[in-house]
Amino acid sequence: MLGEKRDIAGEASALTSRPRRLRRSASLRRMVRETTLSADDFIYPLFVVEGEGAVNTISSMPGQAQRSVDMLAPELEEIISLGIPAVLLFGIPDEKDATGSLSWSGHGPVQRAIEAIKRQSPGTIVIADVCLCEYTDHGHCGVLSQAGEVINDDTLPLLARSAVSFADAGADIVAPSAMMDGQVAAIRARLDVAGHDQVPVLAYAAKFASAFYGPFREAAESAPQFGDRRAYQMDPANRREAMREVALDVEEGADMLMVKPATPYLDIIREVRDRYDLPLAAYQVSGEYAMLKAAGMNGWIDERRAAIESLVAIKRAGADMIITYYAKEAARWLKEGT
Ligand code: PBG
Repeated sequence: MLGEKRDIAGEASALTSRPRRLRRSASLRRMVRETTLSADDFIYPLFVVEGEGAVNTISSMPGQAQRSVDMLAPELEEIISLGIPAVLLFGIPDEKDATGSLSWSGHGPVQRAIEAIKRQSPGTIVIADVCLCEYTDHGHCGVLSQAGEVINDDTLPLLARSAVSFADAGADIVAPSAMMDGQVAAIRARLDVAGHDQVPVLAYAAKFASAFYGPFREAAESAPQFGDRRAYQMDPANRREAMREVALDVEEGADMLMVKPATPYLDIIREVRDRYDLPLAAYQVSGEYAMLKAAGMNGWIDERRAAIESLVAIKRAGADMIITYYAKEAARWLKEGT
């Protein structure tokens, strides 16, 4: 019996590859590592509110806060010192109305935040999320018909105006997330007319109607007041449809693509990466962050290892950039060496 086993082992050693040979030490593992994470990969989301001196913590997203424009400076300081190249801005206005007019008419929190950030750190890439849900009193991502349906084509010019207004304020990139058909083309056309032909569009190309956005809606005060977003965001069950959505955004002139959420949609990230050559972002959304945080805070999981593992998985799936609430912590962990 024993002899037989040894024979088999002997044969294995002569004839087959032994992957474990390359796992024996940390330096060997480092040498053959296929996917690496760096602070360069991260985009850090920021929530901006009106007023002064405001830092409102978000209970379902420990470590994250809504900040007024004047309170962004220290945050930005940290982001720069950690080597994080980009931020993604969400605005929460004091007043909301049926058409989300504060996103496109005036000088709202996002416009002012863009100016402040570019003044403080011209090299930091400022991405402005373009959507109406934080600005509408009904919380939907577009304007509504009498029957309470989001009207696609009436929403497009408002999204385009909003994008132009962010570009006017100095945004480096605009990122439409409303999932209206034709939004990329509408925004591209208006940006070009307004003299912003050099401002790229990062398209939330495949954005799913996900339960993982729950904590964000507390952070952005953007929960729909009735119904849900399933008539415009994608059905989580659909892979082929995601490819159609991406194809349309590419045709409409998207410069970069995004898949959102990230971890439950790694297959979609991989497929977009295999089919398209545009830079690809993945959004590790609020619920993904909240789950890791909650389990970590309870001592049920090693948060640091689990978070890094998730981020590596998102990159391995094919993302070039990751929008993540972990950006600062992960950048710090990577500096310390993981
Ligand atoms: C706005 C928007 C949402 C998120 C990003 N942009 C919420 C939504 O679609 O309901 C979610 C981000 C997150 O959960 O972290 N349209």
